[in-house]
Amino acid sequence: MKVLVTGGLGFIGSHTVVELQSKGFEVVIIDDLSNSSIDVLDGITEITGIRPHFERLDLKVKKGVKEFFNKHSDISGVIHFAASKAVGESVNNPLMYYENNINTLVYVLQELSGLEHQNFIFSSSCTVYGQSDELPITENAPVKPAESPYGNTKQIGEEIIRDTCKVNDKLKSIALRYFNPIGAHPSTKIGELPIGVPQNLVPYITQTAIGLREELSVFGGDYSTPDGTCIRDYIHVVDLAKAHVIALQRLLDNKNESNSEVFNLGTGKGSSVLDAIKSFEEVSGKKLNYKIVGRRAGDITAAYADTNKANSVLGWKTELTLDDAMSSSWKWEQKIRNK
Ligand SMILES: NC(=O)c1ccc[n+]([C@@H]2O[C@H](COP(=O)([O-])OP(=O)(O)OC[C@H]3O[C@@H](n4cnc5c(N)ncnc54)[C@H](O)[C@@H]3O)[C@@H](O)[C@H]2O)c1
Repeated sequence: MKVLVTGGLGFIGSHTVVELQSKGFEVVIIDDLSNSSIDVLDGITEITGIRPHFERLDLKVKKGVKEFFNKHSDISGVIHFAASKAVGESVNNPLMYYENNINTLVYVLQELSGLEHQNFIFSSSCTVYGQSDELPITENAPVKPAESPYGNTKQIGEEIIRDTCKVNDKLKSIALRYFNPIGAHPSTKIGELPIGVPQNLVPYITQTAIGLREELSVFGGDYSTPDGTCIRDYIHVVDLAKAHVIALQRLLDNKNESNSEVFNLGTGKGSSVLDAIKSFEEVSGKKLNYKIVGRRAGDITAAYADTNKANSVLGWKTELTLDDAMSSSWKWEQKIRNK
């Protein structure tokens, strides 16, 4: 079966392509390389022995999207990762985020609506919950006003899909709300490639450990958590990738209970920033240079997933640990710096 993976050369997309290929799916990747490198295609090929079909295409260009779907009308499903994802950048340049994250989604859905098989998986985020009143967070927790234009594009994206499903009963969709994806493939052939100063904790940790950054700032040591630092649910990208294959298979097998489903993807375990640093220090044997500084605007105190629905309804659960993720991220960092 042929599956389209948009943003398939990015961090989560590339790991998902590997898992799809290992289950026998034929993969077509669309990426405009705005936040990824063409070398990722080689990494995927080295892992799986199969070079996926790749089209360099900007999904904001409606004509190009139309032409692509005309050529590939035999697609069985779409996994839509393509989006811009830097929260800070979205605050400074909201229109760029609305243009990229919303237009691409609309154009893909418009073209998908003309196909025989209309199975659609969407990359959403736990940011839709904001600081949830309940912990762990279930899928029924209310969606809170978005903290950033980026977060808003995920909320609006889910609404666009729901509204479209209401009028198109051929369209079947699953929105996957990721918690905090980290780690790299155990082969060290693909991983996260942050461009510029990393926005996320783990690449910042590994870049500090390798000497690219002088010191890691831990934002806030006075939160109402056991050690005073923020708590997140760090999920290994390989576990996350596998969930996409299971979600797609659910739609292909018509096992979905409604045509717009939502699942949390996390481990269910909250880890503090200091827990993450400790895990890194243990697996790498390196002492990390870090300092606790003032809080950062927009950071919530704690977020971790209730995974019951993903475990029992989707039939997926995480297998890898925080230490596994830290260890693979550290190996990946050493590899890319040596290169
Ligand atoms: N990484 C996270 O922490 C996280 C958390 C929650 C949700 N998400 C979502 O998951 C998805 C994938 O995230 P990621 O971490 O792999 O990001 P990424 O930036 O590594 O991957 C996104 C890919 O999409 C491509 N892309 C962007 N705009 C495009 C366009 N107009 N046309 C074609 N390709 C385009 C980029 O070049 C990149 O390769 C995104 O939708 C992101 O918002 C990520």
